[in-house]
Amino acid sequence: MALYAAAAAVLAGVESRQGSLRGLVYGSNFQNVKQLYALVCETQRYSTVLDAVIASAGLLRAEKKLRPHLAKVLVYELLLGRGFKGRGGRWKPLLDRHQARLKAELARLKVRRGVSQNEDLLEGGSKPGPASQVPRFVRVNTLKTCSEDAVDYFKRQGFSYQGRASSLEDVRALKGKCFLLDSLLPELLVFPARTDLHEHPLYQAGHLILQDKASCLPAMLLAPPPGSHVIDACAAPGNKTSHLAALLKNQGKIFAFDLDARRLASTATLLARAGVSCCELAEQDFLEVSPSDQRYRQVQYILLDPSCSGSGMLTRQLEEPGTGVPNQERLRALAAFQQRALSHALTFPALRRLVYSTCSLYQEENEDVVRAALQQSPAAFRLAPVLPSWPHRGLGTFPGAEHCLRASPETTLTGGFFTAVLERVEVPSSVSQAEASAPEVTPNPAPKRKRRRRKATAAPSSQPGM
Ligand SMILES: C[S@@+](CC[C@H](N)C(=O)[O-])C[C@H]1O[C@@H](n2cnc3c(N)ncnc32)[C@H](O)[C@@H]1O
Repeated sequence: MALYAAAAAVLAGVESRQGSLRGLVYGSNFQNVKQLYALVCETQRYSTVLDAVIASAGLLRAEKKLRPHLAKVLVYELLLGRGFKGRGGRWKPLLDRHQARLKAELARLKVRRGVSQNEDLLEGGSKPGPASQVPRFVRVNTLKTCSEDAVDYFKRQGFSYQGRASSLEDVRALKGKCFLLDSLLPELLVFPARTDLHEHPLYQAGHLILQDKASCLPAMLLAPPPGSHVIDACAAPGNKTSHLAALLKNQGKIFAFDLDARRLASTATLLARAGVSCCELAEQDFLEVSPSDQRYRQVQYILLDPSCSGSGMLTRQLEEPGTGVPNQERLRALAAFQQRALSHALTFPALRRLVYSTCSLYQEENEDVVRAALQQSPAAFRLAPVLPSWPHRGLGTFPGAEHCLRASPETTLTGGFFTAVLERVEVPSSVSQAEASAPEVTPNPAPKRKRRRRKATAAPSSQPGM
């Protein structure tokens, strides 16, 4: 289905309460869900403005075959979105016929309301909040290219490179076709909010990963050196796995687990596109991965990014701004799983460093989980004091919680996020010093569970784009 038809169908479904916006977008079978989601959100945000313009231009009276939801999406794209730029299919000539009148009606509406910007036409609740100001972060995949080459590519495409950001103000001031290098991560580019790069050739070729800055912190802080063995306990869809592989330079081993077969299939596609060759994906419950299994005897690094409420996710904040108290029962169940997973991860005998992260804003899923795990093994692990200049710290609910990092649109211009780095106090007795300082590069023998394991490079043939 074409983008505009898919967006109209989702919009109609939301208005007739057939499901949530997110559910309808994911159930639509439209391939680029992010693009579809963004278009429907924006059309919805401007809904009353679009209704007014369409009515005063007499569009539906003149074009009897044009359904109201499709009209709304098309007029949004024409007047407030990106324009049709070669798209629009059979609707483009129709819109061309009405373009002048629609533009004039929008201009008249602004004059009547005494405003000059489109956004000033929005009611209070639809005005963009901090979440919509978060820039587009783009991680350069160093397995395939380097920041310098990516910067040159964008410059050749007419983007203006502003150098390395030195403050949040530099990022806030980004506009138009300007972009920056992030102040913290040398492989992270920063573009103005709403820059859509989903169809960019470098993204399509796996040279770029569209990943929020906060979600780059876990792999960066885990910092496994090339050659090490790493567990990515809850890996799908695989953005952090591919970041880990880039840090490893594809040398060493990532054991990546996830329970969800569909999400694992997308992970395999993402990793293959990103050129990851050091990862073994397994459809497996991490809680059932045995720490005494010889395959994991050299695992010194674990990234644990478990399922969470997602309350910090930008898409959620844009769709349901200010949603109140979460369902307490669900929150308790999530926190219980997170605690079990963290405690389990800390039992891997050679483990030296672990990063725990969520995209949740709730203390129950963050500081409380970390505190409970540390209380279980107080002498063995401690919170590592990381990124002292990071402005947003863990809630002071226990001594040392300030070593945890939080992130939000308001404080760090990123999605809402939580990260804690736990490190072993002493080198474990089960791993010799030699083994600890020089991780073996040769992979362990392949596991027997052939049916459930696959190398990251072998994405399922049913996946598109392979
Ligand atoms: C927040 S997502 C992980 C995102 C991922 N780290 C990334 O950066 O792309 C959480 C994942 O945990 C998986 N999961 C939930 N319970 C699990 C379990 N017991 N074992 C392994 N994976 C699990 C979910 O299927 C989901 O894909």
